[in-house]
Amino acid sequence: MSDQNDYVFDEETLTPDEESLLDELGIHGESRRRFLGQVSAAGFSVFALQLIAERQALAAGLDPVPNAAPTAVENAVKVALNVNGKKTELTVDSRMTLLDALREKLDLTGSKKGCDHGQCGACTVIADGRRVLSCLTLAATCEGKDVTTIEGLAAGDELHPMQAAFIKYDAFQCGYCTPGQICSAVALLEEAKAGEASFVTEAGRPPAAKLADDELRERMSGNICRCGAYPNILKAVKEIHTGEETAETWNFAKPFDNLAERSNEGEVADETV
Ligand code: FES
Ligand code: FES
Repeated sequence: MSDQNDYVFDEETLTPDEESLLDELGIHGESRRRFLGQVSAAGFSVFALQLIAERQALAAGLDPVPNAAPTAVENAVKVALNVNGKKTELTVDSRMTLLDALREKLDLTGSKKGCDHGQCGACTVIADGRRVLSCLTLAATCEGKDVTTIEGLAAGDELHPMQAAFIKYDAFQCGYCTPGQICSAVALLEEAKAGEASFVTEAGRPPAAKLADDELRERMSGNICRCGAYPNILKAVKEIHTGEETAETWNFAKPFDNLAERSNEGEVADETV
């Protein structure tokens, strides 16, 4: 059996595809002979066939390198965690954030990358019951944690009450911040129940059982909404917190029987009858 690496490539043995590839690469004449003399037959064949296969695959709209070896993960760390109730094992770069791991490794793209600097809240997820900014959390630090993302809040086709309330109150426009807003809202109610104070909680006192609007606003203040859907977000969170409808109630002026009655009530001042 001949050793392919000892084989000196000969211009005469080129296949038509290899010929045309060299033509396309602009390797002709003397430079072609020099080139062929320098590469091993095996090396050149792999190179040529790979290029040809890639071109054909691209032309056919296929994945050009379906059998390519996965790119090695730098600084690989294994981490086992529960994501939305499912045991998950990941091998991640030790520098990978939880947000990138969720989006890129697990295809959970509900959590959004807004600023990637811990300033907008779009990436908020719930880890062991607490809100965390997944863009500032290293995936490698989540060993053994229960992580809930927006995808894990609904029970099958049944939305989480907070999700339903956001829809009911139209608490979004573009929706980019919404997954983070909802995760934050769900977790903040639990945090308040557990007695965690906020910046506006009266000093030395536990949070009131019924959080005031200012408390809710403050506790949601880490979640920025560029569309400005804040009034409706507040209504949605408040309804879930209090269990009471917070929908707008419109009070139309009651119809007056006649102008005299309106005059008597001082409603008509300068009207000419
Ligand atoms: S993307 Fe994480 S806080 Fe903005
Ligand atoms: S709904 Fe658009 S950013 Fe909040």
